[in-house]
Amino acid sequence: MAKEVKTIGVLTSGGDAPGMNAAVRAVVRQALSKGLKVKGIKRGYAGLLQEEIFDMEAKDVSDIINRGGTILQTARCLEFKELEYQKKAAEICKKHGIDGIVVIGGDGSFQGAQKLAALGINTIGLPGTIDLDIACTEYTIGFDTAVNTAMEAIDKIRDTSTSHERCSIIEVMGRGAGYIALWCGIANGAEEVLLPEKYDFDEQKLVNNIIESRKRGKQHYIIINAEGIGHSASMAKRIEAATGMETRATILGHMQRGGNPTAKDRVYASTMGALAVDLLCEGKSNRVVGYRHGEFVDFDIDEALAMQKSIPEYEYEICHNLSI
Ligand code: ADP
Ligand code: F6P
Repeated sequence: MAKEVKTIGVLTSGGDAPGMNAAVRAVVRQALSKGLKVKGIKRGYAGLLQEEIFDMEAKDVSDIINRGGTILQTARCLEFKELEYQKKAAEICKKHGIDGIVVIGGDGSFQGAQKLAALGINTIGLPGTIDLDIACTEYTIGFDTAVNTAMEAIDKIRDTSTSHERCSIIEVMGRGAGYIALWCGIANGAEEVLLPEKYDFDEQKLVNNIIESRKRGKQHYIIINAEGIGHSASMAKRIEAATGMETRATILGHMQRGGNPTAKDRVYASTMGALAVDLLCEGKSNRVVGYRHGEFVDFDIDEALAMQKSIPEYEYEICHNLSI
């Protein structure tokens, strides 16, 4: 028989993402509406180990659905990878009466949730990352906002790039995943996208393409470079020297992680937050919520972590075709 859940804890972990607040709000209010108690845990697993735990009421999540960042704050906590600290965290949960935890973060955070589940604390993971690099889901909290932020910034750079007939290299976030770069590539009509998944690109071919496009009368050349490829400034110098086209590099950086979440991030994060509470009430544990084929679904964390995801080849191909 399913263990009855009376008190739910909620934490955010890893890199923050716009929409995390909407998810926290939904967890708190869905739980309260079902007669459960809610405890907020500050600073991810680091705060759990420090017992930074406080009671949450409906008013504690007022005025946050529209705000980026996370009111619970977040952290990376390396010691949580060790069994000794995982056991300590499970004991702390028991001491505070927490029998279920919602963990909002990425794959690393889910591994922490998996360990807590094995130690008897029911856990549900929600995919929170701007990188969209969680295999079991087509949507992650924050990606939509981040990609729109980057797109708007790139539109502005495109204006000045065209006026000056320059090549612009714009570096977007994504150390291990090129989804933001690919989406901006299509949304901004970029001439080139450089992705960590396609790291063996040919720079000489890129130089030739720039020279050819100038001959065809193109007034700018936009290159979206993912953080995982990096080195945008030195690349700009080499391209300018090889093509004769003035080239500037811009690194968008952490602005992509902040800002008011889009409607999509607010609605999907809210739905996922509420669903996490429903799953805990059904006695489920070691699950991660995802969005697939138009539906919100949940997977076993072990299975979710074993899934693979790759850059969609068709979108990558058309990105080039549409910018000739
Ligand atoms: P993300 O959750 O965005 O993937 P990280 O990979 O930085 O971000 O992981 C966030 C946190 O999750 C880590 O700082 C650590 O506390 C915890 N974590 C990561 N990997 C593990 C693991 N193998 N076992 C337990 N906890 C982990
Ligand atoms: O995972 C989200 C992300 O923003 C990545 O795109 C980026 O590589 C990384 O986090 C940056 O992390 P930090 O906040 O430690 O600079």
